[in-house]
Amino acid sequence: MKLGGSLVLCNKRWFVIMWNRWLLHRYYGCCCIAIICRDGRQLSDDEIVGMLIGLLLAGQHTSSTTSAWLGFFIAGNKELQDQAYGEQVTVRGHDLPPLEFDQLKSLEFLDRSLKETLRLRPPIMTMMRMVKTPQVVGGYTVPVGHQLCVSPTVNSRLEEVWDNPQLFNPDRFLDKSAADSEKFAYIPFGAGRHRCVGESFAYMQIKTIWSVLLTKYEFSLIDGYFPPVNYSTMIHTPTRPVISYKRR
Ligand code: HEM
Repeated sequence: MKLGGSLVLCNKRWFVIMWNRWLLHRYYGCCCIAIICRDGRQLSDDEIVGMLIGLLLAGQHTSSTTSAWLGFFIAGNKELQDQAYGEQVTVRGHDLPPLEFDQLKSLEFLDRSLKETLRLRPPIMTMMRMVKTPQVVGGYTVPVGHQLCVSPTVNSRLEEVWDNPQLFNPDRFLDKSAADSEKFAYIPFGAGRHRCVGESFAYMQIKTIWSVLLTKYEFSLIDGYFPPVNYSTMIHTPTRPVISYKRR
């Protein structure tokens, strides 16, 4: 295994991960991960495993569900799908060679479509926080020890903030949108200290997945079936996610 130096962000503190054979052998006598906090404390194996499981879970269902919803929005609107396909041809060329990493940023329409998917179907619907100091909200004081909850799903649909909020319209992000002017109007990745660390990675993987799928297949809804949201799971998945596709 080739080992080198790297950094990871956890709980907003920087830990140095030393992928270094010497260190690993010195402390563990084997090849695994050693993480040293800034204060010099070494994390236990349990803490490291916990962090990795957290990363895996935080990144997997959120991304796959978002990817599925994006598929339904695209399948349900032929015009949008043609536009997304056309963008692939423009960016990659007519014979559609394999996607290159640098081309991802030029896929602006796909980017906006993903952004709009996350507005209407944020996989995490609520974020809870324990109140540590009294908080005044809308004239009410929330006492210490109580829970506060913020919901991207609600914030993304506020009539007073968004134009025609129920409409899937990727072009709403072409101009200055509520996401720019209202601090917490658009928060699918959360906000503040525990904001998602995987946003860029999520965009990269979902855009890659759909670049491949869009160029290979044409999608449509089966008898117009657009799945309702399954609110019984923590990550809000499409209920009975079936879709029709044919090879291009
Ligand atoms: C569409 C994809 C994703 C969405 C919508 C999403 C959303 C979120 C949200 C809302 C939070 C904040 C939770 C809170 O404040 O209670 C969060 C935190 C987090 N996310 Fe994501 N996430 C996505 C993908 C990823 C990926 C791909 C990774 C890692 C590879 C990741 C890693 C994390 C981690 C580690 C945290 C906790 C950060 C902390 O507590 O400091 N997420 N994510």
